Amino acid sequence: MSAPAAGERHWLRMIAGYVRPHRGPFVAAAVLLLASSLLGLAQPLAAKALIDGLTAGQGVGRALVVLTGLVIVAAVLLGVGNYLILRTAEAVALDGRRGLVRHLLRLTVPALQRQAPGDLLARVAGDTMLLRQIASQSLIDIFTGGVMLLGAVVLMAVVDLTLLGVTAVVVVLLVVIMGLLMPRIRAAALRSQESVGDMGAALERALGAFTTMKASGTEATEAARIDAAALTAYRQGVSLARWGSVAGTSAGLAIQVAFLVVLGVGGARVASGAMPVSALVAFLLYVAYLSHPVMQLVGAGTYLQIGRAALTRIAEIDALPTEPIDLPTAPPVRAATATGVPAGPARVGGPTTATGAGSAPGPAEVVFEQVSFRYPDRDEPALRDLTLTVPAGGLTALVGPSGSGKTTVLALIERFAEPHQGRILVDGRPLADWPLAELRATIGYVEQDVAVLAGTLRENVAYATPGATDEEIRAVLRTTRLGTLLDRLGDDLDAPVRHRGLSLSGGERQRIALARALLRRPRLLLLDEVTSQLDAANEAALREVIQEISRRTTVVVVAHRLSTVLAADKIVVLENGTARSVGSHPELVRTDALYASLAAEQALV
Ligand SMILES: Nc1ncnc2c1ncn2[C@@H]1O[C@H](COP(=O)(O)OP(=O)(O)O)[C@@H](O)[C@H]1O
Ligand SMILES: [Mg+2]
Repeated sequence: MSAPAAGERHWLRMIAGYVRPHRGPFVAAAVLLLASSLLGLAQPLAAKALIDGLTAGQGVGRALVVLTGLVIVAAVLLGVGNYLILRTAEAVALDGRRGLVRHLLRLTVPALQRQAPGDLLARVAGDTMLLRQIASQSLIDIFTGGVMLLGAVVLMAVVDLTLLGVTAVVVVLLVVIMGLLMPRIRAAALRSQESVGDMGAALERALGAFTTMKASGTEATEAARIDAAALTAYRQGVSLARWGSVAGTSAGLAIQVAFLVVLGVGGARVASGAMPVSALVAFLLYVAYLSHPVMQLVGAGTYLQIGRAALTRIAEIDALPTEPIDLPTAPPVRAATATGVPAGPARVGGPTTATGAGSAPGPAEVVFEQVSFRYPDRDEPALRDLTLTVPAGGLTALVGPSGSGKTTVLALIERFAEPHQGRILVDGRPLADWPLAELRATIGYVEQDVAVLAGTLRENVAYATPGATDEEIRAVLRTTRLGTLLDRLGDDLDAPVRHRGLSLSGGERQRIALARALLRRPRLLLLDEVTSQLDAANEAALREVIQEISRRTTVVVVAHRLSTVLAADKIVVLENGTARSVGSHPELVRTDALYASLAAEQALV
C-alpha cells in the first residue's frame, strides 16, 4: 500500500469542516430519519403483541390501528428527513465549489501554470459532486444505520440471547469481509476520478490547439489519448462496481444466512419448549429488519471511500499556494443586451484624457536591485543579478534576443512570482510592502499573448474599469486605432467579439488589450511586444500614441522590432537575464555589438 497522500490524513476533519456550517438542518435530518427508523424498530414488537393477542384469543383491532399508525408516521418522517438531507447535500456541494473556485482564482501564477485546466475543471465539477454524497447521505446513513443496528441488537438480546450469539457470528464475519473490500473500493475510486481528470486534460489539450491539430492531421492521435483516459475511467469504474457489488451481495447474503440459521436453531428451541413461537417470530423479524441498517452501513462505507478519493483531490488543490490578495466583490454581471452603462464614479478630465494620462500621483518609478529569478521547473535562471532603473515618466525599452528575460521582468513587476534574490521597488517601496491589489491597479499590462475574453467589445475594453462611460470607451478605441473594428461591429459596443465571422485578428486583439490597459489610466504601462502583429501603418500610429502617453506616465515597452523603440529615452539591452548595456539608440549602436547587429539586421542603422 502506498503512503497516504498529504490531503488524505485529515479527511474526517475535512468532512467535519464541510458539514459544520449546515449542522442545524443536518442534525434535524438525522433526528427525523432516526425517529423514522425507531418507529420501524417498534413494528416487530407491535406484531408480536398482535400474535400474542391472537393466541390468547383477544381482539386485534387496537394492535392493527397502532401498527398502521406506526407505518404512516415512519413514512412521513422518512420523507421530510430525506428532503432535508438532500438539501444539505446540495449546500455542501455549493460550498465545496465556491471554496474551490475562490481558491483557484487566488492561486499564484506559477502554481496555476503547472496545472492542467481540464483536470481542474473535472475537480470543480466532478469531485465536488462526490462531496455531496459523502458529507450528507453517507454520514446520516452511518449514524442512523449504526443506531438501528445497536437498537436491533439490544432488542434481540431482550428476546433471546442464544439466537443473538448466532447472529453476531455472521455479522462479525461480514465486518471482516468489508475491511478487506473497502481499501480496494477507495483505490479504484481514486484512480477513476484521476482518469476523469486526465480525460479533461487531454480534451482541453486537443481543443486548445484545435487548428494546430487539424493542420497537423493528428485528430486520431488526440482521440486515442482521450480514449485511453476514458478507457481507464471505465476500467476503474467497473472495478468499483465489482467491489461494490461484492460488498452489497456479501451483506445481503450474510443477513439471509443469519435468517436461515436463526430459523433452524430457533425452530429447534421452540420445539424443545425453550422459547415461545412469538419470540422466534419477533427475532426473525429483527433479523430481517437488520438487513436495512446493514445495507445502509455497507453502502455508506462504499460511498465514504469514493468520497475520500474526491477529498484527496480537493485537498491537493487546497494545498497549492495562493496570493495574499483579497478578491474584491464582483459587480453584478451586466446583461449583454443592456444599452447604457450605469454612471460610474466621476472621472477627472473626461474622455480626452482616456488615453492614459496619469491621474493624481503621477508616473511611477521602478527599480530592480540585483534581482535573480528562476522558474520552478528550470535549472537555468531566467534573470541573474539584474539591476535596472525605469525612471518615472518617459519611455523605457527592453530589447534583447528571445528568451533573454524581457517578459519575466514585466511578470515580476506585476508580482506574478517572487524573485529569489534582490528586490524590486516601485516608487521606492519594495513590492512586498505594496498591497497586491493596489500595486496591480497602478499598472496597465498588455501581455505578449493577449487574452480576449468571450463577451462583448465593451466587456473586453472596460474589463478592468467597469464604471467607464461610452464616451471614454469610444475615445480609447479611437486612440488605439480600433475605429474600423467598431464600424465593422455596427458601432455597437455590446456586439459580441468572439462571435463567428467577427473574430479578431492578432493585431486587433493586441489593440483591444492596449485599450483595456489605457482605460485604467495606469501610472505604469507595461507593453510586451504590443506592436508585433501590426502592419507598418498601424505600428507607426501606435508608436506615436505610446510616445504621447509616455509624456504623462511611465511606459516600459518590450520590443523585438527596434523600430518601436527608436525614440525611447532609455533602452536596456537584456541578454541571458542580465542587462548588458543601457543607453539611447545612437549610443547603443556605437557601443554595443549585440544591439548594433540587431539594428543592422533590421536595417535601422
Ligand atoms: N512559465 C515559464 N516556466 C518556465 N520557464 C519559463 C517560463 N516563462 C519563460 N521561461 C523561460 O525563462 C527564460 C526567459 O523567458 P522570457 O522572459 O519569456 O524571455 P523573452 O520575453 O525575453 O523572450 C526563457 O529561457 C524561457 O524559456
Ligand atoms: Mg517575451
